[in-house]
Amino acid sequence: MNNSGITYIGPFSEIVTMDGLPANGPISDDQLNIIEDGFIAIKDGMILGIVKRESINLHTNPELHILKEPSVCLPGFIDAHTHICFAGSRARDYAMRNAGKTYLEIAKEGGGILSTVNQTRIAKKEELIEGILKRTRRHLESGVTTIEIKSGYGLNSFDELKMLTAIQDANDATKSDLISTCLAAHTVPPEFKGKADEYIQFLNNELLPLIKEKELSNRVDIFVEKGAFTVDQAWTYLLRARDLGYDITVHADQFSTGGSKLAVEMGALSADHLEASGIKEVKLIAESETVAVALPGASLGLGCNFTPARSILDHGGRLAIASDWNPGSAPMGYLLMQAAILGTFQKLTNAEILAGITVQAANALNLKDRGIIKSGFLADLVIFPTHDYREILYKQGMLRPSHVLKRGEILF
Ligand code: NIG
Ligand code: FE
Repeated sequence: MNNSGITYIGPFSEIVTMDGLPANGPISDDQLNIIEDGFIAIKDGMILGIVKRESINLHTNPELHILKEPSVCLPGFIDAHTHICFAGSRARDYAMRNAGKTYLEIAKEGGGILSTVNQTRIAKKEELIEGILKRTRRHLESGVTTIEIKSGYGLNSFDELKMLTAIQDANDATKSDLISTCLAAHTVPPEFKGKADEYIQFLNNELLPLIKEKELSNRVDIFVEKGAFTVDQAWTYLLRARDLGYDITVHADQFSTGGSKLAVEMGALSADHLEASGIKEVKLIAESETVAVALPGASLGLGCNFTPARSILDHGGRLAIASDWNPGSAPMGYLLMQAAILGTFQKLTNAEILAGITVQAANALNLKDRGIIKSGFLADLVIFPTHDYREILYKQGMLRPSHVLKRGEILF
């Protein structure tokens, strides 16, 4: 029996630590701080350090987990933007889009976000929990050990609280960490049709304080877009959210610009999407502390431009990459594959892509305890059966992890 409480796992051909990477701007692969032929020491769910085989202290009677094949270890992946709490399917929207209709046209005709709102309102909380857990498990098997999940398919007090409670209950039922975000300002619900200002008033006066009081989330998001909310509406809502102590993030510049400037001015943790951002928006965001979150899954789901990730980095920005997994614009939900594909179109280095789904994603969520393999960080780890980390993105998501650890526990 292991009486020191220490577990060593390895040997790893490469431990891709992501430690000490530049916080802003381009990152080259030789900055990845890779340690060769090491073991990772773990205690109480945390990383104790990286050691060579000969330095393992056998007198402390540790538990040794010896890997049989060449292996590479990375920090567990972090998906900083999803909408995986939902009911129903939007396969019909997808077919309509591919037959020529736009996302916004479909929304106007009763498809889009509001059709998921209808289906989610009808669903029981238990059904939502089941859906979250199914998707969380798929993410865990792919090495994603932390997931941000938004509400935003309820759009009234009862159903927004139902969604946020479902996320909280699912979090209690999985080893993964689920971080909830209130996206009650996703679109204007039918009850407030033509009265977006009044809906924002309702959110400001009733729902945001209620969610705070019930401690259901400490993050707030809004969709700034034609057909959703204007910059002015978002301004009052985010000011209120900030006053209440929420962290802020914005769905910005997906089809038209405006949201990114607002996000920067509000000191948002992240501005997500940015597919429509031009050079003016890129520079603004790159010069700020706000993390730009690229969502290649939405580009693939909608068949539209990728976020100008290369330009954001070249102008000194911070780039995270998330899946946006949702029933409408991004149904695939495969973070590693999407990040690899974004890399080929945007010419991102391995280091920039991997940072985007680890340390920069942690920054986007304001999580200081993960995303790096370093003493004192969570032992959330993903292990791939290869001797060369470059094989991971080269295989574009088809090289599957051999093991996934959450807080030091081997889950797969
Ligand atoms: O991030 N753009 C707004 N919200 C989601 C889509 C949600 C949906 O279509 O259900 C997005 O793409
Ligand atoms: Fe989204």
